[in-house]
Amino acid sequence: MTGIDILATGSYTPPLTITNDDLTKCVETNDEWIRTRTGISCRRMTNGEPTWYIGTMAAKAALEKSGTSPDEIDMIIGTTVSGDYHTPSMAAIVGREIGAVGCPAFDISAACSGFVYGMDMAHKYLSCGMKKILIVSAERLSAITNFEDRSSCILFADGAAAAVVAPSDKFFTSYLGCDGMGMRYLYAKKTMRTHPFMDDPVAIEDYTLPDDPYDVLIQDGKEVYKFATKALPNTVLAALEGTGRTVDDIDLIIPHQANIRIIETAAKHLGVGMDKFFTNIDHCGNTSSASIPNALDEAWSKGIVHPGMTICFTGFGAGLTQGAIVMDI
Ligand code: UT7
Repeated sequence: MTGIDILATGSYTPPLTITNDDLTKCVETNDEWIRTRTGISCRRMTNGEPTWYIGTMAAKAALEKSGTSPDEIDMIIGTTVSGDYHTPSMAAIVGREIGAVGCPAFDISAACSGFVYGMDMAHKYLSCGMKKILIVSAERLSAITNFEDRSSCILFADGAAAAVVAPSDKFFTSYLGCDGMGMRYLYAKKTMRTHPFMDDPVAIEDYTLPDDPYDVLIQDGKEVYKFATKALPNTVLAALEGTGRTVDDIDLIIPHQANIRIIETAAKHLGVGMDKFFTNIDHCGNTSSASIPNALDEAWSKGIVHPGMTICFTGFGAGLTQGAIVMDI
């Protein structure tokens, strides 16, 4: 075995459509600014559904499409930055909901690179003999968005998607990376309780600002933008390095849907046209780790992705994490 077969994907579309005009009720902004600066016209948000629930709905869709019964699943890899519980993992709850009880289940916290990290990990376990792995990427970013911050709340959205993957003898290559020096550019601090014995608490510098609100995403948009426009092309080239293949061999790139301008700039760096990219950010917004599999599911259902193609996933986000996969499907 050298590669991965994506047997099927599934997704869940949250019920609320939030337009750019709707956001003007929260912050001083306008439709034109959001569309021209981000490429987003509207996004989806949950109406109270937990992250594990939307992940489960996506997982059930992927299982059904792939004709996989829950007892065939050897491992569940969840990816989320907006899970409902400190513990257990979202993947554990999805396992309970779909009836895949007994197999290992855990979440990866790699932000918007989560699906790429998950695919890479699935590849490793499939190489060791596993037969079917379920990757579930679900995000309820609306629960950790600061709707008073106009530079970030216009980007984030909710969504979930899943993939059932199996071993294959097709081409597969990957690259993963992380630079913790950039953690200060995108983060959400957790509220942690004090304990009754705390006396003169120790202040440890962690490079975030002490006055930042807790439990919401804080972003330095300009720094993340600079990082992202480099990370996207660099990860693709790093994944291809040493394989004998080039960008010209890739039929379609499905990038993390962060901002259409990031993708356009990266396309120029790679020397390819926008027709090599699949994007759905205009109606989905930025759903962190769910964005790549959600776009894949949409492209697949529209017949834009089909067997025989070489596709590339590339993700970048908080950490700062980054990664890419190039694979034949
Ligand atoms: O998933 C990965 C995580 N995130 C990203 O990839 C995001 C990366 N960054 C970005 O996408 C962009 O930096 C943003 C969309 C966040 C911001 O776009 P920008 O073109 O970098 O805008 P800016 O921060 O340079 O702001 C330009 C102006 C400022 O006004 P002044 O100072 O020039 O008067 C902002 O105050 O636009 C203003 N502004 C807004 N105006 C209307 C910022 N946000 C808004 C808004 N509506 N929502």
